[in-house]
Amino acid sequence: MTTLKNDRFLRALNREPVDVTPVWMMRQAGRYLPEYRATRKKAGSFMDLCRNAELACEVTIQPLERYPLDAAILFSDILTIPDAMGLGLTFNTGHGPQFAHPVRSAADVKNLPIPEPEGELQYVMNAVRTIRKELDGRVPLIGFSGSPWTLATYMVEGGGTKEYGNIKGMLFDQPDTLHQLLDKLAKSVISYLNGQIAAGAQAVQIFDTWGGVLTPRDYQEFSLRYMQQIIDGLTREADGRKVPVILFTKGGGRWLDKMAATGADCLGVDWTIDLSDARKLAGDNIALQGNMDPCILYSNPERIREEVGNVLASYGKGNGHVFNLGHGIHPKIDPENVGAFINAVHELSAQYHK
Ligand code: CP3
Repeated sequence: MTTLKNDRFLRALNREPVDVTPVWMMRQAGRYLPEYRATRKKAGSFMDLCRNAELACEVTIQPLERYPLDAAILFSDILTIPDAMGLGLTFNTGHGPQFAHPVRSAADVKNLPIPEPEGELQYVMNAVRTIRKELDGRVPLIGFSGSPWTLATYMVEGGGTKEYGNIKGMLFDQPDTLHQLLDKLAKSVISYLNGQIAAGAQAVQIFDTWGGVLTPRDYQEFSLRYMQQIIDGLTREADGRKVPVILFTKGGGRWLDKMAATGADCLGVDWTIDLSDARKLAGDNIALQGNMDPCILYSNPERIREEVGNVLASYGKGNGHVFNLGHGIHPKIDPENVGAFINAVHELSAQYHK
């Protein structure tokens, strides 16, 4: 068993007592940091950065050098799986991700392979191994994947979308085809996350970025059901320690009771629900992660500190809170404000753990 110098994050996920509330940020390695932009330039394209274990490790550690964060997250992307399936992924500045070969028919789905973690995706496993070695027990490393529904959205649309016409068209017109795609993705995500856990990931998060655009019924049938399949298939212990699973559906606040029933260890929560209400819905047997509005970081250190206090008060006393933003940090945020945010969480939360 590796000795962790700081295990607050894992303790909070297991609802064990901590001295102060642990904090990390979704997208904590990214364009708001000048040192990230420099390494990204050196790498060439975004995917070149993901494929280079040394550089992916470098950008993973960058935010930890600046701030006393309580966890590191693997630098990669959720679209590595569809890329490894042969869809031809490119990131074009201003256009976001794009696939050369979107999935539109039953035949397209049938032809998709289930990628091997130590095959086409070995570069991700190598990044995990390199980062774990470099971290040397400083903080735990989080692995991650997209949810089947969120990955399917990009694969069927061929990129980002505002209307969900192709994916929802498939949902309502060819539900069996979509189910076959989601089942294939669930199997791929299970082997991908188990590969990351075998390589050294100490907790994993499933990003269901687009689950919140579904009707309550369709959320259960097309998103939650496949995340349940994943949770049932994951390695839950490694290296003598539990490997907690975090489920994050953006816009899923009203379904936290259903999400809690999956057996996940923690639920990610965005800013559209108060943590006090989220706690009531999710129940006492699960941790919560969140949920400050990322836009508060456009303000100033005093206002940020006040809002950190509001979020902490909303969760209140008791174990099982991991502080985070309700979604990823934006590229235009001033790094100074991030420092004020992280320090405020540690300073203001001690009173809740006495
Ligand atoms: O949290 C972290 O620090 C880990 C790294 C991480 C990235 N992407 C790095 C990245 C994680 C966890 C992701 C997940 C991801 N990728 C999601 C789900 C996240 C969520 O917040 O819900 C989604 C939807 C994607 C797909 C994706 N990748 C998009 C829409 C974009 C932005 C494209 C653009 O040009 O704005 C990316 C690229 C990406 N992934 C960047 C980073 C740092 C920016 C790339 C760059 O350097 O230009």
